[in-house]
Amino acid sequence: MKNILVTGGAGFIGSNYINFILNERENYNIINIDKLTYAGNLENLSPSENNPNYTFIKGDITNTELINYIFEKYKIKYVINFAAESHVDRSILGSEVFFRSNVIGTNVLLEASRRYEIEKFIQISTDEVYGSLGPSGYFEETTPLAPNSPYSASKAAADLMALAFHHTYGVPVTITRCSNNYGPYQFPEKLIPLMIINALNDKKLPVYGDGLNVRDWIYVLDHNKAIQLVLENGRDGEVYNTGANTEMPNIQIVKLILNYLGKSEELIQYVKDRPGHDRRYAIDSSKIKNELGWTSAYTFEDAIIQTIEWYLANRNWWENIISGEYQNYYSKQYQL
Ligand code: NAD
Ligand code: TYD
Repeated sequence: MKNILVTGGAGFIGSNYINFILNERENYNIINIDKLTYAGNLENLSPSENNPNYTFIKGDITNTELINYIFEKYKIKYVINFAAESHVDRSILGSEVFFRSNVIGTNVLLEASRRYEIEKFIQISTDEVYGSLGPSGYFEETTPLAPNSPYSASKAAADLMALAFHHTYGVPVTITRCSNNYGPYQFPEKLIPLMIINALNDKKLPVYGDGLNVRDWIYVLDHNKAIQLVLENGRDGEVYNTGANTEMPNIQIVKLILNYLGKSEELIQYVKDRPGHDRRYAIDSSKIKNELGWTSAYTFEDAIIQTIEWYLANRNWWENIISGEYQNYYSKQYQL
């Protein structure tokens, strides 16, 4: 059995990864540590909760004692670090928890990985560490880091610690930097689920600035497959960019969602821009394609419909969320 510590596995991408991998690999034993912040939800793991190869531990990755205990008790040989504060707008409202979870938390995991001589550490990073692009060009692995938000700066700091641990101590670290994900179980603070849910509730759809900021979208299962390839075949000390060549201005997605749901474009409301809003992200994925044979299997046209249909079919999941603490945040967000 491969004993794999997955951190942040109750969040959007981590839960999709666990549900996917327990189906794909019978020899994987997944230990999921998650603090269950506002973004962590054990319902996301209902397909896996009774799997004998799955264990959940509620805990914080900044807790050195707990992390050492887990490495020892479960004989951890592989780590996939998804755990993070992940939302740019929240990082603008307050950066401290981003620094703690994303930077200090990663450092605690790296120290334990060094101590217990693990075989692989995958740091799940983001294309946002490269900053913002103009109208042309792509992020390559060699593009200098130039993060702009407290969120992206904390992710860049974690990446640099991870690479330093490889360089200095030989910890077998590999970093993935992926573009914007969408799919089932994404917390409705992010663009796509927020717009779907507001449209379904006939609430205004708040579009920042002129709506022409561009993101490069990837379906979460395509990202999961990339992570799997990197875990199995990625080279230590390397970075792999991952994206599905699906650049789109925000307003185009918002209109697509409204049209699919048969709602009026009058629901669109242009609001004050996000401070420091990155204009454009676009990823060059040649390295992971050429070296590891990764390709995206889902087209945006199909996967966005699947995603909208998932939110239509899983009203309970998001109604529970939006009736809770979310309300507080939602009203604060537009006073940025
Ligand atoms: P998410 O916010 O949905 O989930 C994060 C999870 O981490 C939550 O379950 C939360 O409870 C947990 N967590 C937070 N702090 C923790 C701590 N101190 N200890 C233990 N658990 C903690 O985020 P996501 O969208 O699933 O993103 C996962 C990872 O992927 C993050 O590292 C993020 O930076 C990266 N990423 C996300 C995207 C995207 O589009 N969502 C794109 C590229 C990279
Ligand atoms: P988001 O999902 O927060 O991801 P990120 O900022 O990490 O790329 O936002 C995606 C894009 O959508 C980004 O350009 C900001 C924009 N956006 C809005 O216009 N309105 C919103 O309510 C949100 C949440 C995002």
